[in-house]
Amino acid sequence: MSEITGRRSGRAFTSQPVDDELINLILEAGRLAPSCANTQAWNFLVLKDKTSLQQAHPALSRGNAWGKDAPLMIIVTAKEDGGCPAHGLPYFMMDVGLAVENMLLQAVHLGLMGHPTAGWDEAVLKQTFAIPDEYRIVTVIFLGHPRMRDELPPEQAEREFKPKERRPLSEIVHWNSW
Ligand SMILES: Cc1cc2nc3c(=O)[nH]c(=O)nc-3n(C[C@H](O)[C@H](O)[C@H](O)COP(=O)(O)O)c2cc1C
Repeated sequence: MSEITGRRSGRAFTSQPVDDELINLILEAGRLAPSCANTQAWNFLVLKDKTSLQQAHPALSRGNAWGKDAPLMIIVTAKEDGGCPAHGLPYFMMDVGLAVENMLLQAVHLGLMGHPTAGWDEAVLKQTFAIPDEYRIVTVIFLGHPRMRDELPPEQAEREFKPKERRPLSEIVHWNSW
């Protein structure tokens, strides 16, 4: 599926805002994700106004300063006890992950780019946006229109469009028995 092969966590966004219609399609893709016993532990906090985006920027890690160029951020939160308790595993994390991937693929489908991150200060974001204590921030997705390869200086273009590095199937797949 071209959305899967075309998805990438790029860092170069144009300044063009994302239309509300597209934002809603992305949120809807998250909402439709599967979750353990249909618990749907996710909540999405959308930052699209300049003031809100600017309020979030001091919480970003130094390595994620590129995120300040994104015209849209979605803070993905969940309650730690919001998923199902099977096997003693924190299934809410899997459920949220599925929702996030749905959103990332929908973004690609719409000609946008989404970049999930873990590099930010959770306490600062929670305080800034009045996120209730019982919610954890699982990820912050930066979204926007991607800048094209020929719009970037050669070195940045190389970093931005570098081929995917993945372990081969022969290392990760076990057939019939481990
Ligand atoms: C949970 C999670 C946290 C991540 N955190 C960051 C981050 O803080 N900063 C960043 O630049 N990329 C972050 N990434 C992006 C990964 O580095 C990226 O997905 C990985 O290198 C594979 O590249 P690709 O998404 O372009 O295929 C994160 C990805 C995930 C799934």
